[in-house]
Amino acid sequence: MTSPASTDLHTDPRLFEGIDVYAVTGNPISHSKSPLIHAKFAQQTQQAMHYGRLQPELGGFVRAAHDFFVAGGKGMNVTVPFKLDAKAFSDVLTPRAQLAGAVNTLWIRDEKIYGDNTDGAGLVRDLLAQGIAIAGARILLLGAGGAARGVLAPLLDQSPKHLVIANRSSAKADELVTLMTDQAKMNNTILESTTHEGLEDSKNTAPFDLVINATAAGLDNQSPLSNLAAANVFAPSSFAYEMLYGKTSSFMQQALQRGARVSDGLGMLVEQAADAFLLWRGSDLATSIDPRAVLAELRS
Ligand code: ATR
Repeated sequence: MTSPASTDLHTDPRLFEGIDVYAVTGNPISHSKSPLIHAKFAQQTQQAMHYGRLQPELGGFVRAAHDFFVAGGKGMNVTVPFKLDAKAFSDVLTPRAQLAGAVNTLWIRDEKIYGDNTDGAGLVRDLLAQGIAIAGARILLLGAGGAARGVLAPLLDQSPKHLVIANRSSAKADELVTLMTDQAKMNNTILESTTHEGLEDSKNTAPFDLVINATAAGLDNQSPLSNLAAANVFAPSSFAYEMLYGKTSSFMQQALQRGARVSDGLGMLVEQAADAFLLWRGSDLATSIDPRAVLAELRS
């Protein structure tokens, strides 16, 4: 007997006759707040739907996603570590999913699987909702992995004045600059890369208006910034955005120590979920959902 490709956490669409079923898929997934967020949106719009969790084995995403859609599942959010698998699983990619190089939202239409990426739009909306100006700003994006790539195009769309990508290994940051050069030009943004050591050079590093941590360092209770680099990049007028959520990370603490304002990524999570919800249930519901109220409830 082969082991199952996934642990079905009460998400089999066949259990919910007459109700559209969605799921968030990741490994691990038990901590995910997505089911709660989508239940709130469903309540706000009086939609009858079920949103559960799926935890495929590592390497088991395709089978789990295939089984879910064959059983009648309507759509899926995808999180770590399956966003590249979800891209490969999609028959049709939206332009922003292609640019992001990863997929966090799937749905089925006319027997085709569509893949989109709502992470970057979610980040931008959360920043704007917090009153952070992106147009004309000097931005430092820390990291050059999937999370950083996913938000790059939507950030450039807002026409920042200057966007610097800093990564431990410079080659990956250079690659992202090459990938986005044309879009940066169209938006009149100076796009550059540097290393984390480069940020320690006080002669060449002025404070940034907005510093976004898109590295995975927080998962190991680390900050990608040395204290020397933090002293250069943060001023009291800076805003530090941590894409992870749930605690005040080392990165956020460094910013707070220098008088900067900080945010974790819970608002981004809610806003990317809002986009996914509207893709699935219809954009006409945009005025009926209230992501900021859902965020306030999650924080309380
Ligand atoms: P994700 O999809 O979450 O972005 P990823 O593609 O594995 O995951 O990328 C992780 C990012 O976090 C990379 O930019 C990585 O830097 P490297 O490319 O140099 O590996 C960065 N990262 C992870 N741990 C880090 C740490 N302790 N300090 C600094 N950067 C870190």
